[in-house]
Amino acid sequence: MTHTLDVGPSGLFGGRPRPPAGGAGPDDPIPPAVQMYELLYSSLISRMIIVVAELEVADTLRDGPLPVSEIAERTGTDASALHRVLRALASFGVFTEVAPRTFGLTPLAATLRRDVEGSMRELARYVGLPERQQAFGALAHSVRTGRPAFDHVYGTDWWSYFGAHPELARLFNRAMGSMARMVNSATLDAYDLGGVRRVVDVGGGQGHLLATVLPRYPEMTAVLFDLPRVVAEAGEVLTSAGVADRVELVGGDFLTSVPAGADLYVLSWTLHDWDDEDSVTILRNIRRAMDGAGRLIVIDEVIPEGDTAHFGKVEDIVMLALLTGRVRTEAEFAALFDEAGLRMVETRATSSPTSVIVAVPG
Ligand SMILES: C[S@@+](CC[C@H](N)C(=O)[O-])C[C@H]1O[C@@H](n2cnc3c(N)ncnc32)[C@H](O)[C@@H]1O
Repeated sequence: MTHTLDVGPSGLFGGRPRPPAGGAGPDDPIPPAVQMYELLYSSLISRMIIVVAELEVADTLRDGPLPVSEIAERTGTDASALHRVLRALASFGVFTEVAPRTFGLTPLAATLRRDVEGSMRELARYVGLPERQQAFGALAHSVRTGRPAFDHVYGTDWWSYFGAHPELARLFNRAMGSMARMVNSATLDAYDLGGVRRVVDVGGGQGHLLATVLPRYPEMTAVLFDLPRVVAEAGEVLTSAGVADRVELVGGDFLTSVPAGADLYVLSWTLHDWDDEDSVTILRNIRRAMDGAGRLIVIDEVIPEGDTAHFGKVEDIVMLALLTGRVRTEAEFAALFDEAGLRMVETRATSSPTSVIVAVPG
C-alpha cells in the first residue's frame, strides 16, 4: 500500500527558486513567515554542496548511480548521514535518487566532478573556505562601519592574507579559473574581438580569458598582467591552450601602472574588487597606457536598479564583507569612467551574470 503524504505548500524548498520581489502577495499560498523561515535556512544548501564537493561524491558517481552504502564506503562517510544530505540536495536537482537509497548524477551534480570541462569543484571549495565563512559571520561589522569584516577578523586585508598563505592563493586562482571559464565563453559569444591586434588582460589571473580568446583569433598577441606571484603560475593554462608563445607575462601592480601599447585592454571580474578611488586609479592607468587610442572592455556584473533580482546584488555583499569593492550599476560605471578620462559607449548583456561594458578615451 502506498501512502501519499500531504506535506503542504512550500516555497523556496518546494521548487520555486525565490519569492517574488516584495515577498508574499495576497494571492501567494505561502505565508511570509514560512518564506522567511526558508530563506533563513537557505545557506545550508550551499554548505551541503561544499561538503559533497570536498568529499568528491560526484566523482564517485562518474560511471553511474550507486547505493548510498557504496558511496559512503568509497568516500569514507557515514551512510545514514550521507543519505540525508544527498536526499536534501536531490530535492534541489543536485543528484537524483534513482531508486530508494541509490543516487546518481544530474547535470547540476556533474559540475562538481573534478575532471569535467567547466568543473565548479574548486569554486565550491573556495566558497567554503573557513576564512570566507568567518568574515561572513562578522557581516554586521561591515554593515555598521562600511569596512571589510575580513580585515576586522583577520587583522589584515584580503590580498595580503593570500600573499602570506600560498596554498589559499592557489585555491583562489583555481576557483577564479572555474569562474572565468563560465564567464569567458559567454563574453566571447556576445562580443566580437575581430580586428584586435594586441590585448592586455589587466588582473588577468592565470590566463584563463586569454586561453579562451587567443585560439579564436589566431593573429592576436597578448600581455597577461597581474601580481608577480600570480603570473608566475600562469604558464600551465596558456600552454595547455596552445597559446603560450603569443602571450607576454608581465608582473606588476595595476594601482601603479599598466603595460602600454595594446589596442584592447580587458578588466575581467576585477573592478568590483576595488572601491571607487582605487577603481579610478586603475582606470586612469589603463587610459594612460592606451595612449589615446584603443578601447577598454570591462567584464563585470552590472546590477539593475530597484527590486529586480540579480546575482550581482549578492556578489556585492561578498565584496562588502571581504574587500573594499562593490558591484556597480551602469550609472556608477559611467561615473567612474568619466573621472578616469574614459567614455562608456556600450553595455552588452551576456548569457552569464556578467555584462561587457565598453569604454574609449573620453
Ligand atoms: C577576481 S580576480 C579575476 C581574475 C581574472 N581576471 C578572471 O576573470 O578570472 C582579480 C585579479 O586581480 C589581481 N590583482 C589584485 N591586485 C592586483 C594588483 N595590485 N595589480 C595587478 N593585479 C592585481 C588578482 O591577483 C586576481 O588575479
